[in-house]
Amino acid sequence: MPDGALPVLDVKDLKTVFRTRGGEVHAVNNVSFHLQPGELLGVVGESGSGKSVTMMSLIGLLPQPPADIRGGQVMLGDIDLRTAPAEVLRGVRGKRIGFVFQDPMTSLNPVFTVGSQIMEPLRLHMGMTKAQATERAVELLELVGIPDARKRLKSYPHQFSGGMRQRVMIAIALACDPEVLIADEPTTALDVTIQAQILELVKDLRKKLGMAIIWITHDLGVIAGIADRVMVMYGGQVVEQAPVKDLFARPQHPYTRALLKTVPHLTGARQARLQVIEGQPPILTAHPTACAFRARCTHRFERCDAENPLRRPVGHGHDVACHWVVNAEVAHA
Ligand SMILES: Nc1ncnc2c1ncn2[C@@H]1O[C@H](COP(=O)(O)OP(=O)(O)OP(=O)(O)O)[C@@H](O)[C@H]1O
Ligand SMILES: [Mg+2]
Repeated sequence: MPDGALPVLDVKDLKTVFRTRGGEVHAVNNVSFHLQPGELLGVVGESGSGKSVTMMSLIGLLPQPPADIRGGQVMLGDIDLRTAPAEVLRGVRGKRIGFVFQDPMTSLNPVFTVGSQIMEPLRLHMGMTKAQATERAVELLELVGIPDARKRLKSYPHQFSGGMRQRVMIAIALACDPEVLIADEPTTALDVTIQAQILELVKDLRKKLGMAIIWITHDLGVIAGIADRVMVMYGGQVVEQAPVKDLFARPQHPYTRALLKTVPHLTGARQARLQVIEGQPPILTAHPTACAFRARCTHRFERCDAENPLRRPVGHGHDVACHWVVNAEVAHA
């Protein structure tokens, strides 16, 4: 992937707030990132750090209210998805951007056959006839490794195992040959071997189809194995992002360091789930005016309480939002 290529997706200062009875929850705070053609961006961060809300905000999947997307730009080529009319968004979702979210709103519908659910985007976005969509659905099920594909079109989701259902969801997400695939790791843990098979499948599909992928996971071993670049989220913000090798070799943010310290043998590990690190997650009910990680940080100093750090470059394609790191860089320069 050429360094200077235009990103397929370019997100700037995305901001999503939930209005709740207890006040506003600032779930996504000025999140910026980009995705290059064909690249796999891994997203990590503890539970509640804003990974899913960020991705759902991008493609207008959050009901508003209670969500309120307050600002930002989400450029897909030259369309800003944030301000695009609803019909443009409907034309993009499932066509130019495929997604697999482990959320009841977007997962398989138990009352329809798997075949009809794969055929729906094909008929809607590609204008296929029923016969054409059926053939393409068979192809797609074969592509994701489901045996007896033609027969299985008539099955209902409950007749598939968890791993097979995940393959079906990937088939639906890939149906219209999207430029971008967003995959949110299942919260209900699948068997380790099945996860490994799904990963192999995604690696293989990426080679075959060449789409860019955003992969959200709690598993650092997965990130080490498949990502080109990694984005670390904390308290609704991106606190660090770097090429994968760089992130593992030179983690900068104290949160990233804490995460990586909990993984003993990273690259060889089949499962290296994010461990819970000490301390409380940040309270998101106010707009951040200080560093969100300060209460858990061993390097905290006055500036961390006074000012939310902005992301600054610390290497080629590597940036970090931390006063302590930036100070140390200056000191060593
Ligand atoms: N409907 C909602 N109303 C209020 N707050 C919400 C709502 N949905 C999400 N949030 C809050 O937004 C924040 C980010 O949640 P999000 O689901 O994006 O986290 P996540 O990083 O995907 O976590 P996980 O790893 O557990 O999937 C959390 O604090 C969550 O409580
Ligand atoms: Mg999530």
